[in-house]
Amino acid sequence: MAGLTFHRTQNFIEVINYYRDKVKMDIWLEQGGCTILQKGNFLLGFCDRDGTDTDGMITFFFETSEEVDDYYMRFKESAAEAPKENSRFGIYHFFTKDPDGRNVEFQSFLHNVKPHSEGREMLQNRRSIRKFTKEPVSTEVLLSIFKPCRYVPTSCNTQAYQYMIVRDKEIIEKLSKIRDGSSAPIGHSPLSVVVYIDVNKTRRPEQDGAIASTYFLLSAAQYGVGTCWIGGMDTDEVKQILGLKENMHISMISPVGWPDEKKNLPDRRTIDQIVKGLK
Ligand SMILES: Cc1cc2nc3c(=O)[nH]c(=O)nc-3n(C[C@H](O)[C@H](O)[C@H](O)COP(=O)(O)O)c2cc1C
Repeated sequence: MAGLTFHRTQNFIEVINYYRDKVKMDIWLEQGGCTILQKGNFLLGFCDRDGTDTDGMITFFFETSEEVDDYYMRFKESAAEAPKENSRFGIYHFFTKDPDGRNVEFQSFLHNVKPHSEGREMLQNRRSIRKFTKEPVSTEVLLSIFKPCRYVPTSCNTQAYQYMIVRDKEIIEKLSKIRDGSSAPIGHSPLSVVVYIDVNKTRRPEQDGAIASTYFLLSAAQYGVGTCWIGGMDTDEVKQILGLKENMHISMISPVGWPDEKKNLPDRRTIDQIVKGLK
């Protein structure tokens, strides 16, 4: 199920323009007399009416406080005051008003929140996490993460992939030292997940392993659980530490835990750079 809220306005055009042009929402649906706008998972509708609702608060939230600061620059003239932390709610925020005088708030949470983005949003928001809280990821959450991993596509449906959860502190410590700084994030979380493939069971171990690893990373992101693909771990030494036979190809080892860092998007190439022949 999904949802949206509707607000009445006598200022229909100006209000729609404000949320579209200034708040940078997309028009999701025009219904004739009512327009629904979208930002992330937030659907907000306005209807052209004789009265105007100004009760309540319309709050937009971002992943990082830097994004709140960016929005503040856009609303500096109308904002009540500069963004600041509010320890009661664990947020960083500022207030402004829309053309109807409705309260509008822009904020980020200063603590982890339950996952709120799926699909397109989640694909764009996933980041590699290398710092984790000490709070363990429960078996219930792990189960939810692994459920979609049953549906990984594999060469000839061989399903030669295996996930291994490692909780042993000594093993985690050893794995974290295999590639110095590159594998160090493994030692920053209470558990690791190893993705490996039986090379005798598939003709495409690298590809099967990569997609099984990717499914896991994306599924974890849906639950707000942090991961980081640590590559270059398919060595005899690592197999020995994990008790794996020679015929296993280790695709990825990832630390798994609740994020203790907020990451901004690292540089990305543009659509035109990554896709040839689009236009
Ligand atoms: C095949 C592969 C190997 C990687 N190996 C490492 C690694 O050894 N150590 C590490 O800290 N991050 C590793 N990463 C994570 C990348 O550094 C990261 O995906 C990249 O910087 C982009 O950042 P993002 O994942 O937050 O978008 C690896 C990622 C991939 C896909």
